[in-house]
Amino acid sequence: MALPLVLMTHPLPQDWVASLQSRVRLLVGPAELPGFAPHLLEQLNEAEGIVSMLIDKVDDALLSHAPHLRVVSNYAVGYDNIDVPACTRRKIPVGNTPGVLTDATADLAMTLLLSCARGIVKAAMDARSGHWRTWTPTGWLGADLRGATLGIIGMGKIGRAVAERAKGFGLNIVYFKPKREPEIESMLGIRYLPLDGLLQESDFVSLHCPLTPQTRGLINEAALQKMKRTAILVNTARGPVVVTEALVRALKEGWIAGAGIDVTDPEPLPMGHPLYDLQNCLVIPHIGSATHGTRRRMAEMACENLLAGLEGRILPNCVNREIYG
Ligand code: DGY
Repeated sequence: MALPLVLMTHPLPQDWVASLQSRVRLLVGPAELPGFAPHLLEQLNEAEGIVSMLIDKVDDALLSHAPHLRVVSNYAVGYDNIDVPACTRRKIPVGNTPGVLTDATADLAMTLLLSCARGIVKAAMDARSGHWRTWTPTGWLGADLRGATLGIIGMGKIGRAVAERAKGFGLNIVYFKPKREPEIESMLGIRYLPLDGLLQESDFVSLHCPLTPQTRGLINEAALQKMKRTAILVNTARGPVVVTEALVRALKEGWIAGAGIDVTDPEPLPMGHPLYDLQNCLVIPHIGSATHGTRRRMAEMACENLLAGLEGRILPNCVNREIYG
């Protein structure tokens, strides 16, 4: 019997891809370009499985060219790149990789928070460009952490992991999410605030919500204007949660003091974008989960989801379990 054809949009860590070789016919797209490469699109009509990344759109139009598709396995915890209802209508299970990237992403959120709080990028650039002439009592001053307030928007696994880390730095934590979590509040010693209250009280605001119609553009001009002029915004969630033009204005006009962003809208942020020119903005290229161990574990989960779907088993991590009835 012919092995099922699987389209993998971009290469995964090699050892996991190797584990698939004897069980599927694998067609892999290029490492550097987003989306489905033309040679993958040509094979859609035969494909039984897809391993996609957050940069690949799996929408209704694409699905309509894949009549034999039995599973979409997304190599990410977020799945806003996939039209899940369209998959559900076709009874195609969608897998993701929750949990394994919690620590790496929370670590990166703290990295951005600390780097922005202490102006690390500018300080490092000043040092290497000859502007470090002497120690000075007034040079390169940053924000204090102990006793300051961190507002976390979204209190899922990653939000909680950030709260745990931030406690160690002496930050007071407030959080907002649509559904209050009293148990987590007492477990972590954190306080719930409505969104406006959080924006007004926080010295740091870190985003940890998924991208949904409700969170798209959540941090817009009005939200940024509610924040303290000394506040720092951290985004390791999804770029479109923040309105990019509003962020540019907020940073240029001093509505807030700084931003550390791992995710942008659009992504990648094009060369010459005003955010790159702002000294109070630190932009990095969506590397929240980019540690060796995390990416390997994500690959393992994505492959497990893929094989389960191809073998007709329930995916270990399925975002549309309702298809199983
Ligand atoms: C995810 O998995 O959703 C992350 O954004 C990848 O880093």
